[in-house]
Amino acid sequence: MIIAIDGPAASGKGTLSRQLAGHFMLPHLDTGLTFRAVGHALLSADLPLDNEVLACEMAQKVDLGKLDRNILSAHHIGEAASKVAVMPSVRKALLEAQRNFANQPGGAILDGRDIGTVVCPDADVKLFVTASPEVRAQRRTDEILGKGQDADFDQILQDVKMRDERDMNRADAPLKPAENAHLLDTSKLDIEGAFQQAVSLVEKTL
Ligand code: C5P
Repeated sequence: MIIAIDGPAASGKGTLSRQLAGHFMLPHLDTGLTFRAVGHALLSADLPLDNEVLACEMAQKVDLGKLDRNILSAHHIGEAASKVAVMPSVRKALLEAQRNFANQPGGAILDGRDIGTVVCPDADVKLFVTASPEVRAQRRTDEILGKGQDADFDQILQDVKMRDERDMNRADAPLKPAENAHLLDTSKLDIEGAFQQAVSLVEKTL
Protein backbone atom coordinates (compact mmCIF):
# COMPACT_ATOMS: atom_id res chain seq x y z
CA MET A 1 0.00 0.00 0.00
CA ILE A 2 1.31 3.44 -0.93
CA ILE A 3 -0.18 6.47 0.83
CA ALA A 4 0.61 9.89 -0.70
CA ILE A 5 0.13 12.96 1.47
CA ASP A 6 0.53 16.46 0.07
CA GLY A 7 -0.14 19.94 1.34
CA PRO A 8 1.35 23.37 2.03
CA ALA A 9 3.84 24.30 4.77
CA ALA A 10 2.58 23.78 8.33
CA SER A 11 -0.69 22.19 7.23
CA GLY A 12 -0.18 19.35 9.70
CA LYS A 13 0.73 16.80 7.03
CA GLY A 14 4.03 15.87 8.70
CA THR A 15 2.53 14.99 12.07
CA LEU A 16 -0.35 13.24 10.35
CA SER A 17 1.97 11.19 8.14
CA ARG A 18 4.05 10.04 11.10
CA GLN A 19 0.90 9.01 12.98
CA LEU A 20 -0.50 7.14 9.97
CA ALA A 21 2.86 5.42 9.45
CA GLY A 22 2.72 4.19 13.07
CA HIS A 23 -0.92 3.13 12.77
CA PHE A 24 -0.58 1.24 9.48
CA MET A 25 2.99 0.10 10.27
CA LEU A 26 4.46 1.55 7.07
CA PRO A 27 7.86 3.17 6.55
CA HIS A 28 7.58 6.95 6.11
CA LEU A 29 9.56 9.47 4.07
CA ASP A 30 9.13 13.21 4.62
CA THR A 31 10.27 14.34 1.16
CA GLY A 32 10.53 17.95 2.38
CA LEU A 33 13.62 16.81 4.28
CA THR A 34 15.29 15.83 1.00
CA PHE A 35 14.90 19.39 -0.33
CA ARG A 36 15.90 20.79 3.05
CA ALA A 37 19.07 18.66 2.97
CA VAL A 38 20.04 20.35 -0.31
CA GLY A 39 19.38 23.83 1.10
CA HIS A 40 21.27 23.01 4.28
CA ALA A 41 24.28 21.61 2.39
CA LEU A 42 24.54 24.83 0.34
CA LEU A 43 24.09 27.13 3.35
CA SER A 44 26.64 25.18 5.42
CA ALA A 45 29.22 25.42 2.63
CA ASP A 46 28.48 29.15 2.22
CA LEU A 47 27.35 28.54 -1.37
CA PRO A 48 24.62 30.51 -3.17
CA LEU A 49 21.08 29.11 -3.32
CA ASP A 50 20.50 30.17 -6.91
CA ASN A 51 23.15 28.09 -8.69
CA GLU A 52 21.38 25.08 -10.20
CA VAL A 53 24.59 23.16 -11.02
CA LEU A 54 25.80 23.32 -7.42
CA ALA A 55 22.34 22.56 -6.02
CA CYS A 56 22.02 19.53 -8.31
CA GLU A 57 25.41 18.21 -7.16
CA MET A 58 24.21 18.46 -3.56
CA ALA A 59 20.91 16.75 -4.47
CA GLN A 60 22.79 13.80 -5.98
CA LYS A 61 24.60 13.32 -2.66
CA VAL A 62 21.47 13.26 -0.47
CA ASP A 63 21.33 10.04 1.57
CA LEU A 64 17.79 9.18 2.73
CA GLY A 65 19.23 7.27 5.68
CA LYS A 66 20.97 10.36 7.02
CA LEU A 67 18.21 12.99 7.05
CA ASP A 68 18.28 14.62 10.48
CA ARG A 69 14.91 16.23 11.21
CA ASN A 70 16.24 18.11 14.25
CA ILE A 71 18.84 19.92 12.19
CA LEU A 72 16.76 20.34 9.04
CA SER A 73 13.54 21.61 10.63
CA ALA A 74 14.85 25.19 11.14
CA HIS A 75 12.64 27.84 9.52
CA HIS A 76 15.42 29.35 7.36
CA ILE A 77 16.28 25.90 5.96
CA GLY A 78 12.65 25.54 4.82
CA GLU A 79 12.99 28.83 2.94
CA ALA A 80 16.24 27.61 1.33
CA ALA A 81 14.54 24.30 0.42
CA SER A 82 11.72 26.03 -1.42
CA LYS A 83 14.26 28.02 -3.47
CA VAL A 84 16.17 24.93 -4.65
CA ALA A 85 12.88 23.03 -5.13
CA VAL A 86 12.05 25.18 -8.18
CA MET A 87 15.07 23.72 -10.03
CA PRO A 88 14.11 20.84 -12.37
CA SER A 89 17.51 19.09 -12.09
CA VAL A 90 17.31 19.13 -8.29
CA ARG A 91 13.81 17.62 -8.40
CA LYS A 92 14.95 14.99 -10.90
CA ALA A 93 17.95 13.99 -8.77
CA LEU A 94 15.73 13.53 -5.70
CA LEU A 95 12.83 11.90 -7.55
CA GLU A 96 14.59 8.59 -8.12
CA ALA A 97 15.42 8.14 -4.43
CA GLN A 98 11.87 9.14 -3.46
CA ARG A 99 10.33 6.63 -5.92
CA ASN A 100 12.63 3.83 -4.77
CA PHE A 101 11.50 4.48 -1.22
CA ALA A 102 7.85 4.37 -2.29
CA ASN A 103 8.24 1.13 -4.20
CA GLN A 104 9.78 -0.93 -1.43
CA PRO A 105 7.96 -4.23 -0.77
CA GLY A 106 5.10 -3.75 1.68
CA GLY A 107 4.52 -0.13 0.70
CA ALA A 108 5.21 3.23 2.28
CA ILE A 109 3.85 6.63 3.23
CA LEU A 110 5.40 9.69 1.62
CA ASP A 111 4.53 13.29 2.30
CA GLY A 112 5.43 16.43 0.38
CA ARG A 113 4.04 18.70 -2.33
CA ASP A 114 3.96 16.50 -5.45
CA ILE A 115 3.63 12.95 -4.13
CA GLY A 116 0.14 12.28 -5.51
CA THR A 117 0.80 14.13 -8.78
CA VAL A 118 4.41 13.25 -9.71
CA VAL A 119 6.28 10.93 -7.33
CA CYS A 120 3.51 8.32 -6.85
CA PRO A 121 0.70 9.04 -9.33
CA ASP A 122 -0.57 5.47 -8.80
CA ALA A 123 -0.66 5.66 -4.98
CA ASP A 124 -3.48 3.65 -3.40
CA VAL A 125 -4.62 6.58 -1.25
CA LYS A 126 -3.98 10.30 -1.77
CA LEU A 127 -4.66 12.95 0.85
CA PHE A 128 -4.31 16.70 0.34
CA VAL A 129 -4.02 18.37 3.74
CA THR A 130 -4.76 22.10 4.00
CA ALA A 131 -5.43 24.80 6.59
CA SER A 132 -5.79 28.57 6.25
CA PRO A 133 -2.52 30.56 6.08
CA GLU A 134 -3.39 32.22 9.43
CA VAL A 135 -3.89 28.89 11.19
CA ARG A 136 -0.66 27.51 9.70
CA ALA A 137 1.33 30.60 10.68
CA GLN A 138 -0.06 30.37 14.24
CA ARG A 139 0.99 26.70 14.47
CA ARG A 140 4.50 27.54 13.27
CA THR A 141 4.69 30.45 15.73
CA ASP A 142 3.61 28.23 18.65
CA GLU A 143 6.09 25.55 17.59
CA ILE A 144 9.01 28.01 17.59
CA LEU A 145 7.92 29.65 20.87
CA GLY A 146 7.61 26.15 22.34
CA LYS A 147 11.29 25.63 21.64
CA GLY A 148 12.05 28.75 23.68
CA GLN A 149 12.97 30.79 20.57
CA ASP A 150 11.58 34.16 19.44
CA ALA A 151 8.82 34.12 16.81
CA ASP A 152 7.01 36.97 15.07
CA PHE A 153 3.53 35.90 13.85
CA ASP A 154 3.28 38.60 11.16
CA GLN A 155 6.67 37.73 9.71
CA ILE A 156 5.85 34.01 9.76
CA LEU A 157 2.48 34.64 8.08
CA GLN A 158 4.23 36.58 5.34
CA ASP A 159 6.78 33.72 4.91
CA VAL A 160 3.99 31.11 4.78
CA LYS A 161 2.19 33.05 2.04
CA MET A 162 5.40 33.59 0.09
CA ARG A 163 6.29 29.90 0.31
CA ASP A 164 2.77 28.93 -0.89
CA GLU A 165 3.17 31.32 -3.80
CA ARG A 166 6.55 29.83 -4.77
CA ASP A 167 5.39 26.20 -4.30
CA MET A 168 2.10 26.65 -6.20
CA ASN A 169 3.39 28.69 -9.09
CA ARG A 170 6.59 26.92 -10.08
CA ALA A 171 6.61 25.28 -13.50
CA ASP A 172 7.94 21.89 -12.39
CA ALA A 173 5.76 19.78 -10.06
CA PRO A 174 3.77 22.66 -8.48
CA LEU A 175 1.84 22.14 -5.26
CA LYS A 176 -1.72 21.11 -6.16
CA PRO A 177 -4.14 18.36 -5.20
CA ALA A 178 -4.08 15.27 -7.42
CA GLU A 179 -7.39 14.77 -9.23
CA ASN A 180 -8.32 11.80 -7.07
CA ALA A 181 -7.00 13.19 -3.76
CA HIS A 182 -9.20 13.44 -0.65
CA LEU A 183 -9.12 16.98 0.74
CA LEU A 184 -8.60 17.28 4.48
CA ASP A 185 -8.91 20.81 5.91
CA THR A 186 -7.33 20.84 9.37
CA SER A 187 -8.10 24.53 10.15
CA LYS A 188 -10.69 23.55 12.75
CA LEU A 189 -9.29 20.15 13.74
CA ASP A 190 -6.80 19.25 16.43
CA ILE A 191 -4.15 16.60 15.80
CA GLU A 192 -6.35 13.74 17.02
CA GLY A 193 -9.33 14.93 14.95
CA ALA A 194 -7.23 15.13 11.78
CA PHE A 195 -5.77 11.69 12.47
CA GLN A 196 -9.22 10.09 12.96
CA GLN A 197 -10.50 11.58 9.70
CA ALA A 198 -7.39 10.47 7.82
CA VAL A 199 -7.61 6.90 9.15
CA SER A 200 -11.24 6.64 8.10
CA LEU A 201 -10.44 8.04 4.62
CA VAL A 202 -7.62 5.51 4.19
CA GLU A 203 -9.76 2.61 5.45
CA LYS A 204 -12.65 3.58 3.14
CA THR A 205 -10.34 3.60 0.13
CA LEU A 206 -8.77 0.20 0.82
O1 C5P B 1 7.45 20.28 3.80
P1 C5P B 1 8.64 21.14 4.05
O2 C5P B 1 8.32 22.47 4.65
O3 C5P B 1 9.72 20.43 4.80
O4 C5P B 1 9.26 21.41 2.57
C1 C5P B 1 10.26 22.37 2.36
C2 C5P B 1 10.17 22.83 0.91
O5 C5P B 1 10.58 21.78 0.04
C3 C5P B 1 8.77 23.21 0.43
O6 C5P B 1 8.46 24.57 0.66
C4 C5P B 1 8.82 22.91 -1.05
O7 C5P B 1 9.29 24.01 -1.77
C5 C5P B 1 9.83 21.80 -1.16
N1 C5P B 1 9.21 20.50 -1.40
C6 C5P B 1 8.86 20.19 -2.70
N2 C5P B 1 8.37 18.96 -3.00
C7 C5P B 1 8.16 18.05 -2.04
C8 C5P B 1 8.48 18.36 -0.69
C9 C5P B 1 8.99 19.61 -0.40
O8 C5P B 1 9.01 21.01 -3.59
N3 C5P B 1 7.70 16.84 -2.37
